[in-house]
Amino acid sequence: MTESERSSRTLWSGRYEAAVADSVRRLNDSLPFDKRLYASDIACSIAYAQALHRAGVLSDSELAAITSGLEQVRAEFDSGAFAFAPSDEDIHTAVERRLIELVGAVGGKLHTGRSRNDQVATDTRHWQAQTISRILRLLTALQRALLEQAKQHVQTLMPGYTHLRAAQPISAAHWLLSYFWMLSRDVRRFELTREATLISPLGSSALAGTPYPIDRRALAESLGFLDVAPNSLDAVSDRDFAVDFLYAAALLLTHLSRFAEDVILFSAPLFGFISLDERYTTGSSLMPQKQNPDVLELTRGKAGRLIGRLSGLLTTLKGLPTGYNKDLQEDKEALFDAADTLETLLPALIGTVETMRLQPEAMRAALDESMLATDLADYLVQRGVPFREAHALVGAAVRAAQAQGVTLSALPLPAYQAISTHFQDDLYSVFDFEAAIGKRKALGGTALEAVRQQIERAEAFLQERGA
Ligand code: ARG
Repeated sequence: MTESERSSRTLWSGRYEAAVADSVRRLNDSLPFDKRLYASDIACSIAYAQALHRAGVLSDSELAAITSGLEQVRAEFDSGAFAFAPSDEDIHTAVERRLIELVGAVGGKLHTGRSRNDQVATDTRHWQAQTISRILRLLTALQRALLEQAKQHVQTLMPGYTHLRAAQPISAAHWLLSYFWMLSRDVRRFELTREATLISPLGSSALAGTPYPIDRRALAESLGFLDVAPNSLDAVSDRDFAVDFLYAAALLLTHLSRFAEDVILFSAPLFGFISLDERYTTGSSLMPQKQNPDVLELTRGKAGRLIGRLSGLLTTLKGLPTGYNKDLQEDKEALFDAADTLETLLPALIGTVETMRLQPEAMRAALDESMLATDLADYLVQRGVPFREAHALVGAAVRAAQAQGVTLSALPLPAYQAISTHFQDDLYSVFDFEAAIGKRKALGGTALEAVRQQIERAEAFLQERGA
């Protein structure tokens, strides 16, 4: 064996005569992307060494040597001094190789009863739970920004839309809070995903469980896991926790993409409902007048990316036979990309929402009386007309007004009475946007009192989470 061959020998090369081909190494190695798991890998290894010690596999001095060796490896990673070797195929082999270099043969006892199969599943879950905690803080900060805007605009009226056609007047706070509640469900989804993530595979070994008397429960708890996986084969071979994360991320971005689309439209000169802060827009290299909503467009764009990550991992998992298969290594780039996308996007989006300025006059100017047609039908309902009939009568009034080229409030009483004698001269009191909004005070409606109740509930949601 030449020196260069020897230097590329791996931790599993005992039964191999030749070093693996370079092309295979380039394909197989996950180190370029999974090295970012080092802190989780080392934390889980220190806990595992303690479990081996409790099981009587490691002596006091062996535990001490392995623990201080692992801490040294961590310090090398933290400072950027860690030197990778050609034989390091992934973060697990890199850490173990370096540990053995530092502490000698005793380092080789760490992997007793452990496989990279239970190790990687545990590391990835450990990393994911911490990542979710950071994402949750960003999400509640975004909710906070929406809520603070909503508080400023309880009395700001704007058109509510269906089919992107003005439908009924609403409070601008009501529109903003609609996204708050979508995000509250995303927060719940990430919280539940975090719980499902904190199930420890460690002690499952390659697939069949460990023959050493490891107290898996104590081991799991020492790492902050909530429970242990009940089946070693399942524990090493499923990645549903990663799918849960990608699903939560994809659905979050689906919501944020809709919000972005609203704000792109509402901040367009055509609408003029919102002005974006300069710091959160970008200019055009050609057209000096432009202020482009790139943060929002990228929010919309990243939704497609994360939906792709979710369907990619689901597709990877669907055909796998029982047990660990190398296909599972594909989980990591999807997870890392989703996490990086969220952690890059959310701060920019939070800033966008915090600094955007709603334009109450422009919003109000976009209201028109046709949006009160339902209220006119409700007026007839109060006079005993069945709603279906009232709807038809108001439809006739809308046509009559259009034919005369006037608004509903300018259509004279005789014209109304020609349609139905249920129309009386008090019908004109219907044409009042504030009054229309004020009627919708049942729970969840857009009346000011109902919106204030929403704001209280929203405050409670954030306070429970310390945001
Ligand atoms: N880098 C591998 C992964 O991410 C670690 C597990 C390797 N296990 C194995 N049996 N080859 O999945």
